[in-house]
Amino acid sequence: MQVIDRIEEQYKKATGSSAKTDVEDMDILDKLGKEHDEVQALLGQLVESEKAAERTRLLKQIKAALVPHTKAEQKVVYDRVLKLKDKDAKIDGNEGYLEHEIAERTLTQLGKISNRTSPEFSAAAKVLKELVNHHIQEEENAIWSDVKDNFSDQDRIAMNREFEAAKKRVKVA
Ligand SMILES: [Fe+2]
Ligand SMILES: [Fe+2]
Repeated sequence: MQVIDRIEEQYKKATGSSAKTDVEDMDILDKLGKEHDEVQALLGQLVESEKAAERTRLLKQIKAALVPHTKAEQKVVYDRVLKLKDKDAKIDGNEGYLEHEIAERTLTQLGKISNRTSPEFSAAAKVLKELVNHHIQEEENAIWSDVKDNFSDQDRIAMNREFEAAKKRVKVA
């Protein structure tokens, strides 16, 4: 039995809960994947929603999820990938940075459309959703392969800890 499993087992026994010691022990890619699913679900809801107040609430939630994720991901994952010797990895990292920038700009633009039920808002929400979905798909293919090829399980657990700490330092306006 692995140490991590043993800790979890003890935790379950002590608390009667299966909630894991997950901040410390998670692989960065599992954490990123989990957050991708969450933001994609929120974006889906935003596009489906027709109520102004609900759209405003969802927009706030999306911002709070997306901004710390992208900033911390850049620092902990992209910057490491960019330092690899492999030229394709460098391209992946640069592409990721660019797509983050475009998504953030679209998010800002969306926030400026005060009429939440307008066609303009609906269009921008759709564009953001499409952008983010495309980005996540590419990231999970290209960047994740670079990470898997170059970083050990232990590295990836350490990267997750760093990721959590970096997210906490990001201020969402
Ligand atoms: Fe991501
Ligand atoms: Fe990303």
